[in-house]
Amino acid sequence: MDELVSLCKRRGFIFQSNEIYGGLQGSYDYGPLGVELKNNLKASWWSCMVYERDDIEGLDSSILTHPNVLKFSGHEDTFTDPLIDCKSCKSRWTADEIIDNKCPKCGSKSLTEPRPFNLMFKTSLGPIEDLENYAYLRPETAQNIFTNFKNILDTTSHELPFGIAQIGKAFRNEITPRNFIFRVREFEQMELEFFVNPGDDEEWHKKWVDMRLSWWEKQGLNNNLKTLEVPKDELSHYSKATTDIMYKFPHGEEELEGIANRTDFDLGSHTKNQAELNIDSEVLENNASSAKLAIKSSVSNKWIVPYVIEPSAGVDRGVLAILTEAYTNEQIDNKTSRIVLKLSKHLAPIKVAIIPLKKNNSDIVEKSKEIKMSLQSSNFGRVILENTGNIGKSYRKHDEIGTPICITIDFDTLEKNTVTLRDRDTMKQEKVNVDDLELRLRDIFK
Ligand code: GAP
Repeated sequence: MDELVSLCKRRGFIFQSNEIYGGLQGSYDYGPLGVELKNNLKASWWSCMVYERDDIEGLDSSILTHPNVLKFSGHEDTFTDPLIDCKSCKSRWTADEIIDNKCPKCGSKSLTEPRPFNLMFKTSLGPIEDLENYAYLRPETAQNIFTNFKNILDTTSHELPFGIAQIGKAFRNEITPRNFIFRVREFEQMELEFFVNPGDDEEWHKKWVDMRLSWWEKQGLNNNLKTLEVPKDELSHYSKATTDIMYKFPHGEEELEGIANRTDFDLGSHTKNQAELNIDSEVLENNASSAKLAIKSSVSNKWIVPYVIEPSAGVDRGVLAILTEAYTNEQIDNKTSRIVLKLSKHLAPIKVAIIPLKKNNSDIVEKSKEIKMSLQSSNFGRVILENTGNIGKSYRKHDEIGTPICITIDFDTLEKNTVTLRDRDTMKQEKVNVDDLELRLRDIFK
C-alpha cells in the first residue's frame, strides 16, 4: 500500500485532500492522471450498463436529499455503526475493531458500551440554521433512483425487467476512515437498481453476480476476485440476500461491490408513506395507482411493486483495486528493474505519449506536435507530447503511469516518414509509417 500511495502522489493520481492545511481525514483529490483513470472506469461501467443494453436507463439525481426519503428508506433509524470509546486513551472505534475487549491502541479494557452512531451527513437549507430546514447528503445514490421510478417509467416505455443506473457521489461520516481511498467519507458509487417481477428475483440476483464478476475481470482484476454470501445477521435492513464481490486489496480481502436483493422494501415503503403523508392527495383520490411507485402488468393488468436487484460498486475501491492489480515491480536483467502499471488499455489515463528525440530541434518538435494533434482528434483518448529530451526517462515515467504506447519522433520521421512505437508491457519496438499510424493504433486499442 505504501508504494502505491507514494506512486499516486509522485505521479499525480491521488492527493490527500486539503493537504496544505493538514489534510481533511477521509477525503482525497484525484489529480491529472487519477481523474482520467476514474473517468475511464466510469465510462466502461456506463457503456456496459446503459449503452450496450436496451433495458437500462441512466439518471443523475441530486445529492441533497429530503429527510423523508431517508426516513422511510430506513436510514434514519438503522444506518448506524456501533461506536466505542476508550476511556484511557480517548481513541474511538467501531465495535468490529475491538478484539478481546481491549483498545487496539493502548490495550486498555476500559471501554464504553457500544452506542449507535448515524453515518449520514446533515446540512441546513437556506440562510437560517434550524432543526426544520435540513437535508441529508445522500449516503447511497440508490434512493433517488427509487423516488424517480415513476418519472422514468412515465417517460420511457419499459416493462419488467428493466433498470435505472446512476454514478455519483455518496457521503458517510465513517467513524474511522482508513486504508487510503478504501474507506472514505466522500466517495463515488456506480449503482444499478434492476426492477424485476417478484418471484424472478433470485434468478436475476444470480445473473447479476455473474455479469458483475465478468465486468470486473474485464477491468483487469482476473486473479484476485471472490464472491462471498453475506451472513443473514449481517445483511442491511433492506436486503433479503447479498453477495459481495471481494478483492484482495493490499490491506486484506475486502468488499469491492455488493449485489443485494432489496426486494420491494424501498418502493413499497415510499409508496406507503407517501400515501399516508397525503403528499399527493389529489392524485391519490383521482387515480390511486398513479401516485404509486409501481408498474401495471400488461399480462394481469394488476399493479405490481417490483423487486429490486442492486449491484452497487464503489468507484474509489475500483480505482484502488485496479492500481493494486496493475502495479508491477519487474526485473529486466540482473542489474535493472522497472515499475510498470499494467493497466488495461481502455483504463490507461494516457493512451499514447509522443516523444521527440531532440528537445530543441524545431523540425522534430513541430512534427511531433502535428502527429499529436492528428492522433488526439482520432478519439483514442488522451495523447500527450512529452518533450523532455530524454527518451529513457520518458519511457520510465510512462511505464509507471501505465501508458500503453510511446512513439518516438526522430530524424527518420523527417526523412522517411516513419516513427518508432514502443509497447509498455513487452518493451518491443516497431517502425511504423506515419501514414499507417492511426490504423496501427486502432488495431492496438481495439
Ligand atoms: N446502495 C447500496 C449500498 O450503498 P454498500 O455496500 O453500503 O451498499 C456499496 O455500498 C459500495 O460502495 C461498496 O461495495 C463500496 O465499494 C462502496 N463504499 C461504501 N462505503 C464506502 C466508503 N466509506 N468508502 C469508499 N467506498 C465505499
